[in-house]
Amino acid sequence: MVRIEELQDTPLLGTFHNEVCSKCVSLIKHQYDNRITDGIKGVLFYGVPGNGKTITALKVIERVVTEIGAEDIWQKNMIFTDCGHLAHHKYGETEQRIRNVFKRGQEKTKKISPIIYMFDDADGLFITRDWGIKLEAWYLGHLNVFFHQIDNLNTAKEFILLTSNRVDLIDNAIRDRLYEIEFPDPSIDVKIELLKYKAKKLKINEDIQKSMETALREDNSIKSLRDVENFVLMKYLDEVWKT
Ligand SMILES: Nc1ncnc2c1ncn2[C@@H]1O[C@H](COP(=O)(O)OP(=O)(O)OP(=O)(O)O)[C@@H](O)[C@H]1O
Ligand SMILES: [Mg+2]
Repeated sequence: MVRIEELQDTPLLGTFHNEVCSKCVSLIKHQYDNRITDGIKGVLFYGVPGNGKTITALKVIERVVTEIGAEDIWQKNMIFTDCGHLAHHKYGETEQRIRNVFKRGQEKTKKISPIIYMFDDADGLFITRDWGIKLEAWYLGHLNVFFHQIDNLNTAKEFILLTSNRVDLIDNAIRDRLYEIEFPDPSIDVKIELLKYKAKKLKINEDIQKSMETALREDNSIKSLRDVENFVLMKYLDEVWKT
């Protein structure tokens, strides 16, 4: 998981991620600047793990806030929810937590906007009704609460960013309400870019860096951007402990 505190020093790399980020930023800004109250409610980023969904969503928020020139530090325009922490077994509790998230947001919109609700790893919470398991009333209850909240969103002031690596588990009632963007396997270019960036930060010397680049091009097991980061870290430890 990307640490929010570290994010401000981390650039968003790669053409794909930057294009997605720009599209979302211009949409949110358009709806905000033109007071479009019934526009697009939000987007859903989906795709296999470790390919930059969370970091891109956080960068969208950072850029919106910077471009709008908000006085508050950027986190204030965001309500971040790790969906794994939202689910609760007690009857009615999850529903209440979802309501509270939006209540907090709407309260904030009285002073600042736009407010961006980020629901990270949403699959854990909004599993599909078509999945074949017997769903308990508590689950359908919070699903209903969630899409009711989406329907009531004022898009001039509020926007939702949802991420998931199991989009097949997300209920269609939610998917239909959001614009979906798939994060594909990363290109070799962005992998190399990330490798160079991380290696430079860790002060790995250039020769080693070059050999890592070659290894990355040849190694099919380094698939995701998280794999690239882990690969660099392993090399880094080898080098540090060798001396
Ligand atoms: N475009 C990018 N630029 C810079 N770093 C990136 C980029 N994409 C991914 N990363 C890095 O790769 C790691 C994985 O990214 P992230 O956590 O955003 O993936 P994810 O798709 O949300 O994964 P998961 O599905 O497991 O939640 C992070 O540490 C992040 O900093
Ligand atoms: Mg993530």
